[in-house]
Amino acid sequence: MKVTVVGAGAVGASCAEYIAIKDFADEVVLIDIKEGFAEGKAMDLMQCASLNGFDSKITGTTNDYSKTAGSDVAVITSGIPRKPGMTREELIGINAGIVKSVSENLIKYSPNVVLIVVSNPMDTMAYLAHKATGLPKNRIIGMGGALDSARFKFRLAEAIGCPISDIDGMVVGGHSDVGMVPLIGAATRNSIKVSEFLSEERMQQVVEDTKVGGATLTKLLGTSAWYAPGAAVSEMVKAVALDSKKMFPCSALLDGEYGLNNLSIGVPCIIGKNGIEKIVEVKLSEAEMTKLHTSAEGVKKTNALLD
Ligand code: LAC
Repeated sequence: MKVTVVGAGAVGASCAEYIAIKDFADEVVLIDIKEGFAEGKAMDLMQCASLNGFDSKITGTTNDYSKTAGSDVAVITSGIPRKPGMTREELIGINAGIVKSVSENLIKYSPNVVLIVVSNPMDTMAYLAHKATGLPKNRIIGMGGALDSARFKFRLAEAIGCPISDIDGMVVGGHSDVGMVPLIGAATRNSIKVSEFLSEERMQQVVEDTKVGGATLTKLLGTSAWYAPGAAVSEMVKAVALDSKKMFPCSALLDGEYGLNNLSIGVPCIIGKNGIEKIVEVKLSEAEMTKLHTSAEGVKKTNALLD
């Protein structure tokens, strides 16, 4: 199992670190355009190996895509992160060119790769990666819902005052402050609906806090978050590597599912060695379906900026 992580910034390095610590990959290649940066991060991470107990080999390269050849999975984190007060959509001008050339370079050396897109605006960047590479639709996965669901579970556990491991919940829709659709009606604590533990008002607060999860951190940190994004990506890479068929909400190219077409947006997906093994169509309430369609309109508006 060879994994490439493009972009050795905070998210890319965090992702490489979690992949290494989980120790399911033989090789992790970090690649960055900044001279020596990926090599340095890779060496620093390798010096954790005896301390953290992993055998994955991490190497770094300054923009030499031949070193990524034969990757099974590649993660695209490159581009600029948002600053406080910015939306993810505002990054499109710079990030679109970067994601297009990165994805073309990756498939030149790894034609069978599964791509995981993290760069923002993520749903649009995943859509762009489809356009740029023409890869089969199962082989491009956008990372958003796995992260947003982790933030949702954190907020639910905080509100209820229980361990996070008690909580199950999922966020679908676009990976944006307005577009996320936390499925609060389906969220549970040990299979009991969270409405048994929280008032309607408190549940709505959890939903709102979840939707601005990334923005809240950007305000605190002065830049976009990296630990939870890196952890979310590493879980998705692991599902591909181990062919585990775990279900995550991922940005998938839709072709009629949920009544939507010709866009990538967050829906529940089964992840395995082929990438998206299956898009799962769950029964949403009328209100949730309306929110998903409104979210899709927003994503389509951002996609239109690519033309
Ligand atoms: C976030 C970025 C990864 O939500 O979009 O933190």
